[in-house]
Amino acid sequence: MILSIESSCDDSALAITRITDYKLLHHTKISQEAEHSHYGGVVPELASRLHATALPRLLEGAKPWLDQLKAVAITTQPGLAVTLNEGLMMAKTIAVMNRLPLIPVHHLKGHIYSLFIDKPTRLPLLVILISGGHTMVLRVRGIEDMEILATSMDDSVGESFDKTAKMMGLGYPGGPIIEKLARGGDEDRFDLPIPLRNSPLIAFSLSGLKNAVRLTIEKLGGAEKMTHQDQCDLAASFQKAIRGHLLQKTRKLFTTETIPDVALVGGASANLYLREAIDSLCREFDKTLHVAPLEYCADNAAMIGRYGIDAYHAGLFENPQDVTITPNRKLQQGGML
Ligand code: KG4
Ligand code: ZN
Repeated sequence: MILSIESSCDDSALAITRITDYKLLHHTKISQEAEHSHYGGVVPELASRLHATALPRLLEGAKPWLDQLKAVAITTQPGLAVTLNEGLMMAKTIAVMNRLPLIPVHHLKGHIYSLFIDKPTRLPLLVILISGGHTMVLRVRGIEDMEILATSMDDSVGESFDKTAKMMGLGYPGGPIIEKLARGGDEDRFDLPIPLRNSPLIAFSLSGLKNAVRLTIEKLGGAEKMTHQDQCDLAASFQKAIRGHLLQKTRKLFTTETIPDVALVGGASANLYLREAIDSLCREFDKTLHVAPLEYCADNAAMIGRYGIDAYHAGLFENPQDVTITPNRKLQQGGML
């Protein structure tokens, strides 16, 4: 079995996965959303302290499996340095005490493997990854063959949901709040710009849209003056612009990329409105859309453990003392994950 730990941002999570049949035997997670909600975003120092108390509690629950481990998988990049270190320290201790190898995991590869929880790996895939930290499209042919075809030049999709919610005086994370409000809104009320609409670039950019949202709120007299209906309409108009942007750029990629299987992963892939939009685009191009179960779209350790199995088979493990974190390696178009 593989024990996996995730602590790259504001979720402490731990899982036990069986190597032979990919079965997820145990998964626990302690989220810090409530604690960060007052600040409208994640405060690294606070997150680090919360991981330090949460991780040992999670380990307690994994006791029944601790004598059956073959390796420990741990997220080492990308993420907040202080929180990645909390997880790595615990992973190293378990590995050294039990003489086990450590599997360093790229968090975004983990999101891709959320598709294969409890089941065999199925590649190649064209992956659209929309999380709080990243927005990109990747051509995934193997565990070490993941090419970035397009990426965001500024904010990520999840981040733009979070910032929009924050500007409206709502809580964190903004994604689920905006999605819910949007269901009761008129998406045509505010004419927000679709980013890079007239640009030939196959890339994403969300900062202009964020400014348009800010100006709209100002025109309404500020967040305090907005009625509930204003909030719903702005949430819906914002989501419509995000959809337009994602569809326009992925449509371009679909005309050249022949891989028939497409996946939508990352925290913001829980958004049903965006899922539906990408799904109908896939159908138009005779492609099949794959998504992870809703509970494993957001950060979790099950996806880290599932990646760990394929990494273990591929020999991608190290001596615990050699593993370090890489919080923010540059990820750009044409590069590999
Ligand atoms: O993947 P994730 O849990 O963390 C990162 O790796 O960044 O993604 C978190 C992001 C947050 O920005 C959150 O607002 C967004 O995913 N998110 C959503 C939804 N649920 C979570 N965005 C849009 N719609 C949702 N339903
Ligand atoms: Zn994530």
